[in-house]
Amino acid sequence: MYQTWEKLEEACKNCTKCKLCKARKNVVIGTGNRNAKIMFIGEGPGADEDIQGIPFVGKAGKLMDQAFQGTGIKREEVYIANIVKCRPPNNRNPEDEEADSCREFLNTQIKLINPEIIVLLGSVALKNILGKEYGITASRGNWFEKEGIKYLPTFHPAALLRDESKKIDFWKDLKKLI
Ligand code: URA
Repeated sequence: MYQTWEKLEEACKNCTKCKLCKARKNVVIGTGNRNAKIMFIGEGPGADEDIQGIPFVGKAGKLMDQAFQGTGIKREEVYIANIVKCRPPNNRNPEDEEADSCREFLNTQIKLINPEIIVLLGSVALKNILGKEYGITASRGNWFEKEGIKYLPTFHPAALLRDESKKIDFWKDLKKLI
């Protein structure tokens, strides 16, 4: 565990704990309010995020921004991070080993931010944080509590790009945060 944001950032930028470091352009640590009440956790950076070093700036991120605007969530008030901080090649899911080696960074972020609520975006975030036995379809929209933090799983915004019918549930889930 790192004690400060500075130490965390330095460790992330120099990290070679897994093979994702080899092809990365940028380590995508996280963005937003470090005192946020609500934290969002996605899966891992895509091509746009790898280039810009900021999470959720590509197509899925733009859709999430629209949903934020529609439901009254302000991107600058929340904190957004991912399970892994470096881009998995061809946007494949992060492997367990990669997620595990990155976990200390995410745990540090959660500890430093101390959010009331964590929104788990999609199956990878859900399974890594709450456990492999959880499925996104059954869990989304339901509240869970673990170690004093409330968790709300919902669809990953990229899933809405593939299946528009999921948008209504995503909107409904975000509304629970307001
Ligand atoms: N998908 C994610 O899970 N995270 C990002 O930062 C971008 C796309």
